[in-house]
Amino acid sequence: MRPVCVLVGPMGAGKTTVGGLVAARLGVPFLDSDAIIEARAGKPIPEIFIDDGEDHFRALERVAVADALASHPGVLALGGGAVLAEPTRVLLRGHTVVFLSVQLSDVMHRVGMGLGRPLLAVNPRATMRVLLDQRRPLYEEVATATVTTDGRPPEDVATAVVDALGR
Ligand code: S3P
Repeated sequence: MRPVCVLVGPMGAGKTTVGGLVAARLGVPFLDSDAIIEARAGKPIPEIFIDDGEDHFRALERVAVADALASHPGVLALGGGAVLAEPTRVLLRGHTVVFLSVQLSDVMHRVGMGLGRPLLAVNPRATMRVLLDQRRPLYEEVATATVTTDGRPPEDVATAVVDALGR
């Protein structure tokens, strides 16, 4: 079992929304690595960050992603920081990975004040600018295709992803 497609990209790129649409169109299940982590930890991600710290969250994330890459048969969306882990980038080799790219202005509209996203709790715009710059090379490294999301409704992005999969 391996995912039909793995979606990567920053917070606010639309991975969860687009992933759900792509999965529905392909008739396969959708899974989000953040949801696996929350179910296993029994609490929401902001609480994991507050109670246990980011390093602990990243450890849970590495295991959740590895498990899902080995077992999920549908569309899998990864949390925006999952690609920071080198072992995860290695595991992604050989998978169909679509990078949902997004510019700072669009992403800030989508994440608003960053509610529910602990990394954006302080100065969300400046933080997001740094995260986008730091992580873009990592998304590009793991991606087998890139779909631009700027100014496009999720349905159009989903169509572009399905096209990129050649389905
Ligand atoms: C994070 C992205 C979040 C979540 C956590 C950390 C990140 O997922 O995993 O808040 O480091 O970019 P989404 O990309 O689904 O928002």
